[in-house]
Amino acid sequence: MPAPRYDYSGKVVCVTGAAQGIGLAIAQAFVHAGAAVCLDDIEADRVEKAALALAAAGADVMSFAGDVADAEAVAALFAAVDRRWGRVDVLVNNAGVEPVSSILDQPLATWQRTLDVNLTGTFLCTQQAARRMQVQGGGAIVNIASIAGKSQPLYLRSAYAASKAGQVGFTKEAARELAAYGIRVNAVCPGVIVTPMTEHLRENPQQMARWLAEIPQARLGEAGEVASLCLWLASDAASYVTGMAWHVDGGKNMA
Ligand SMILES: NC(=O)c1ccc[n+]([C@@H]2O[C@H](COP(=O)([O-])OP(=O)(O)OC[C@H]3O[C@@H](n4cnc5c(N)ncnc54)[C@H](O)[C@@H]3O)[C@@H](O)[C@H]2O)c1
Repeated sequence: MPAPRYDYSGKVVCVTGAAQGIGLAIAQAFVHAGAAVCLDDIEADRVEKAALALAAAGADVMSFAGDVADAEAVAALFAAVDRRWGRVDVLVNNAGVEPVSSILDQPLATWQRTLDVNLTGTFLCTQQAARRMQVQGGGAIVNIASIAGKSQPLYLRSAYAASKAGQVGFTKEAARELAAYGIRVNAVCPGVIVTPMTEHLRENPQQMARWLAEIPQARLGEAGEVASLCLWLASDAASYVTGMAWHVDGGKNMA
């Protein structure tokens, strides 16, 4: 991937679910664009290691171990960002889980946990960030949803699809309400991206062939390609863009 041409120096970015996959690529992209970045993840060791690797290369970063579904942990995350940098300019709600389960026998706990992490986590982090952005006079929020929440039913992922559709609806509502404070809110809807979350798909040649046949660009996406869209959406280059859900899926869904 070519280095992104954005200047985020002086900006503070918070990325959830940043220990690996898309979240880590987003954190790396903002670091490369000059931002100070807080990497949050429920996996304490992995997120600390990810932040240490970036810090060793000279980045201004911190890690925070916390569950985005836990209101107290989210308040503590933003309090830690306050102590370190005293502001937050960009929030990327990326933390997510994708359980595979039939509607017929899905335990209520699986359904509830998926909504708690993917949807309630987005609300809790947005609330904390937006309170700070309101005082600062603006900011940008990007919610990592999915094609599953906008235009592409998957299979055996009812809780995931419902949570992602909820994120898209929440994005529009938040964009409407928070525009008054100079806060823009957008959603990103990735197709199949090469990360640990999609290992199961990539290990199944028949499923892979079916997916690839339906993608005009005839390949899966890279995490950095999702990060590029986030960099644009959070930048002044997208200053008149809010309340939209953007596909990044190689052309699989064009509506
Ligand atoms: N990979 C894809 O093809 C794809 C497609 C569409 C959308 N997405 C979305 O992109 C986001 C990132 O996906 P990924 O593929 O990088 O997944 P991943 O499983 O590789 O990474 C997700 C990260 O989120 C963290 N996390 C999980 N629950 C958390 C919680 N409660 N609090 C804090 N952190 C938590 C995990 O520890 C992990 O580090 C998710 O929201 C996912 O739904 C991914």
